[in-house]
Amino acid sequence: MTTSSRPKLAVTRLLPDRVEARIRETYDARFNPDDTIFDADGLIAHAAGAEGLLACPTDKLNAETISSLPESVRIIATFSVGYDHIDVKAAAARGIAVTNTPDVLTDATADITMLLILGAARGASWGDRMVREGRWSAWKPTGPLGVEVTGKRLGILGMGRIGRAVAKRARGFDMEIHYHGRNRLSPDLEDGAIYQSDLEDFLAQCEFLSINCASTPETRGLIDAKTIAALPDGAILVNSARGDIVDDDALIAALRSGKLAAAGLDVFRGEPDIDPRYRGMENVFLLPHLGSATKETRAAMGHRAVDNLDAFFAGRGPGDVVKP
Ligand code: DGY
Repeated sequence: MTTSSRPKLAVTRLLPDRVEARIRETYDARFNPDDTIFDADGLIAHAAGAEGLLACPTDKLNAETISSLPESVRIIATFSVGYDHIDVKAAAARGIAVTNTPDVLTDATADITMLLILGAARGASWGDRMVREGRWSAWKPTGPLGVEVTGKRLGILGMGRIGRAVAKRARGFDMEIHYHGRNRLSPDLEDGAIYQSDLEDFLAQCEFLSINCASTPETRGLIDAKTIAALPDGAILVNSARGDIVDDDALIAALRSGKLAAAGLDVFRGEPDIDPRYRGMENVFLLPHLGSATKETRAAMGHRAVDNLDAFFAGRGPGDVVKP
């Protein structure tokens, strides 16, 4: 293909080498070698003349920005499974297709969720700091002590692909799995997990609560003082989904009062500018949004996003169209 007959693509962030090399073969692409995080004006300028936008969760494609994108843009392929950074309705209203990258990050995200569960329960954060800061004086029968994971009840909020992959791993720790979501799963997908249709009944079961649902108008702020109060005393909460599902004031108050024993957080409201109070807390295990951050998974996400673009520009329906 000559450069002029190739679809014009604007890639908003620096992507893995192999993915950028593949894009160069097929597209007349504008890259972002400095990996600048664009604001709305930057995104609009970067998209000038582009027919497709390969975007990332750091690109805030709200209704206003979408309405100002160049007329040429026909598809936004996000390099993520989550698409809460895109106003999909506003995109549809402008006739712009939106795709995401499901499946390929399920295992990596479920792995990090287990790391959060284990890290929060067993003191990975305070234990690591004791060693590094020379505060480890001697082995002591009385502690500091964590909380046992094996055999406990794990509640999964959002039993989609990632939630089910967490359940599969947690069964290896003999955990009893409960889940809550809009609908009960078929028995093969449920695989022995116990469905709780009522949110409060579900929360009452959760010695561990793992948040694995998408951020939507229904789930934003769902974990607040009222829902945390419904958890058993001493429960542990982990979040590898989206930070805005949790009310930080309520979580911090519960961690300070001992209502919750610990939390493991990979995602934060307003990240990377997290609530600074978390930094000083001993009973939180913090990670910088590493859910999908493996070499294998990031390459697979990039290829999945490009598969969607290829299908779209070849006139076939992309596999991962997001519906408004
Ligand atoms: C996603 O794909 O939505 C993840 O949060 C990125 O790690």
